[in-house]
Amino acid sequence: FDKESYRKSLIHWFKKEQRVLPWRENQDPYRVWVSEIMLQQTRVDTVIPYFNDFMAKFPTPEALADADEQDVLKAWEGLGYYSRARNLQNAVREVVETYGGVVPADPEELGNLKGVGPYTKGAILSIAYDTPEPAVDGNVMRVLSRILHVEDDISKQSTRKLFEGLVSELISEEDPSSFNQGLMELGALICTPKTPSCMLCPVQNYCRAFDKGIETELPVKSSK
Ligand code: ADE
Repeated sequence: FDKESYRKSLIHWFKKEQRVLPWRENQDPYRVWVSEIMLQQTRVDTVIPYFNDFMAKFPTPEALADADEQDVLKAWEGLGYYSRARNLQNAVREVVETYGGVVPADPEELGNLKGVGPYTKGAILSIAYDTPEPAVDGNVMRVLSRILHVEDDISKQSTRKLFEGLVSELISEEDPSSFNQGLMELGALICTPKTPSCMLCPVQNYCRAFDKGIETELPVKSSK
């Protein structure tokens, strides 16, 4: 397994084929943060208009910190899981009060913010700050379980940790943002749950599951 050419193939594909999405317009960590929170339980197509609307209403951490909670919840209406919005506003208020409105680039400070779990933390650090940190969600576990033929149960907390370790080994130091987003994008566009488009996959020749013809049997997930 040639890590360097695997990275290159993934990043090259991502740069060419990525969808144009509003949170990809720039690397503003606040925008990345809001987008990742919205995307946690909601599909990309649904999130797009909410994200644009939210950014128009609350363009900066200061604007969100100063807003009435009711107005924030109103902007969230339809996305569901309202605790996400409350946690986000509380955490942004802390960023404004404690860090002068600058989203921390320090993993520990970032991870201590309300609602910022390991995935969101890794996404912000890699996408906004170009730091080689893993950002492992369900999509990324599906992609990597196939490429590396991992049969561990992805419902288990320990399996996410295992994948974080694997990404830490694989991730590009040069372009961690494109590497992590490339894994996410591959999961969204090619390496889909039921009928993956392996014939179009930029890393097909690295994929152990494709080699064995078992791609649709992975990942292993107990019905929890
Ligand atoms: N799903 C989770 N994070 C995403 C991102 N940054 N772009 C597209 N889909 C995503």
